[in-house]
Amino acid sequence: MDKELVNVAKKALSKAYSPYSNYKVGAALRTKEGKIYDGCNIENASFGLTVCAERVALFKALSEGEKEFTELAVVIDDEILPSPCGACRQVISELAPNASIILATVNGLYKEYSVEELLPNAFKLDKDD
Ligand code: THU
Repeated sequence: MDKELVNVAKKALSKAYSPYSNYKVGAALRTKEGKIYDGCNIENASFGLTVCAERVALFKALSEGEKEFTELAVVIDDEILPSPCGACRQVISELAPNASIILATVNGLYKEYSVEELLPNAFKLDKDD
């Protein structure tokens, strides 16, 4: 398990902007070259505009030109493990299909999943890469 990545996600959690739900999520994404991008959830008074921590980390990395990822860690401060929402699962399956997904709590509980385990039979469109 990528402990360094979980620690980065843990730190990112403290930056969450979640005044409506009071639910803080941190994420950290490792590129094939070893670089780390973090993210936190960012809410809005117009609730549907909220972006989850996982997508913030992924979009930060993609917008910097990153394309291949090995791990994505998601951390919450709770007794139970986080569970990425359906929208994030779809985005992860397209942008980080080979990443190992580490779901963890700040207190050290964790479990690792493949993307296929989190979203079997994901929706895809044929495209020329
Ligand atoms: N959220 C995430 O950031 N990631 C998840 O995996 C689940 C949900 C956020 C969105 C919203 O700001 C808050 O958690 C409550 O839904």
